[in-house]
Amino acid sequence: MEAQTQIPDDRMELLRKFDNTKAGVKGLSDSGILKLPRIFVRLPEDLSKDLLCNNSPIQVPVIDMADFQADAGRRRRIVDQVRTASETWGFFKVVNHGIPQSVLDEVINGVRDFHEQDLEKKKMYYTRDPNKALKICCNYDLFASKTAGWRDTLSVSFPGFDSDIHSHELFPSFSKSTLEYSKLVESLGNVLLGLLSEALGLETEHLERMECSNGYRLHCHYYPACPEPHLANGTAQHWDAGFLTILLQNQITSGLQVQYEGQWIDIEPTPGCLVINIGDLLQLVSNGKFKSNRHRAVANDVGPRISIACFFSGPLMNGKKIYRPIEELISNENPIAYKEIVLGEYVKSFIFTSWESFRVLDCYKL
Ligand code: OGA
Ligand code: NI
Repeated sequence: MEAQTQIPDDRMELLRKFDNTKAGVKGLSDSGILKLPRIFVRLPEDLSKDLLCNNSPIQVPVIDMADFQADAGRRRRIVDQVRTASETWGFFKVVNHGIPQSVLDEVINGVRDFHEQDLEKKKMYYTRDPNKALKICCNYDLFASKTAGWRDTLSVSFPGFDSDIHSHELFPSFSKSTLEYSKLVESLGNVLLGLLSEALGLETEHLERMECSNGYRLHCHYYPACPEPHLANGTAQHWDAGFLTILLQNQITSGLQVQYEGQWIDIEPTPGCLVINIGDLLQLVSNGKFKSNRHRAVANDVGPRISIACFFSGPLMNGKKIYRPIEELISNENPIAYKEIVLGEYVKSFIFTSWESFRVLDCYKL
C-alpha cells in the first residue's frame, strides 16, 4: 500500500515553518495577505484537468424525514428514496430530521468562537497527535499532500471529549453547544443507519449492531476568505473513509461539491438541512451496493465558511475489529467484491497519506 509522494525539501521547509506558527490559514488570512502562499497553490496539471462545475441543473436528492415513524407506508417511501440516493449519488440532503434549528445555529457559533478565540489560547490545542479527543490543526495530510487546503480543522472525538471536557478550559458556548449537537447527531446517525439497513433489505438494527456508530468524530472546518480562491483547494477531492457522514454547513456561501456524471455539482447550504453521504466502509460492507462518492470543498473569497462533518467510522478504539461484505448481500449475481479489513490497519494506512491521490478502499477490491 504505497501512497506517499515525495515532497521536495524546499516545500517541506515551508510547510514546517507554516505549521510551527500554529496559527493555521486563519492566521494567514488575518495577516491580510493578498497572494496565496506557494504551499496552497494547486499544480498546473491539477488545475488544467479539473472537471466542469455545475453546468447542469441537476441537484443532490432531498429527502423529507418528517413523520418517518408515522406509518409503515411512509417509512417505506423514505427507505426507497434513501436506497435510490445511496445507489446513485452516495449523497443526499435531509430536511425535518429532528435536530432543532437553534441547536444547528449554536453549534456553528460555538465552532466559530473556538476558531476565532485568542491565538495564544488556541495554540494550546494545536497538535497532530491522533489520540487527542480535542485538537486543532491545519490539514491532517499537510506533510503528505502536493497542495495544502485552505482550511483549519478542529476535531472532537466521541467517546473522549465528553468525559474529558472538565479538564479543558473551554468557553461555555463551544462545549455546551458541541455536546448538545453531538447527542442529537449521534441519534440521527442511528436513525439513518436503520433506514440504510432497511434499504439493503436487512433488519433495522443490522448496521447499528455492526457498531458502525460506536464512536464518532466531529471535524469542524473553518475556511477563511481566500486571497486567490481559483488557485486553491478548500478540501481537496476525496472519498470519506468511514461508514456515514452527516455534514452541517453555515449559510454564507456554497463550497461543497460532489462529482456526478463527470461534473462537480454544488451542494448549496439550505437552512435547516443536513448533508448525508455514504463512506467507503459502507460501500465495502454493502458489497458495493451503496456508493461512496468523490467530493471536495472549494475555496471562496468570502468567509468564513464553517462546516461540521460528523464521521461514523466504527469503533476506532478497537483496532482488531473486522469488517467484511455482509453475508446476506453476497449471491451468485452479486459475488463478493471486497476482502475483509481490520479496522486498525485500515485507519493506519490512510492517516498520514494524501487523501487526494490515494483511496485505501481500492486495496481491498477483489
Ligand atoms: C470532509 C468534507 C466538506 C466540507 O470533512 O470530509 O468532505 O464542506 N468536508 O467541509
Ligand atoms: Ni469528505
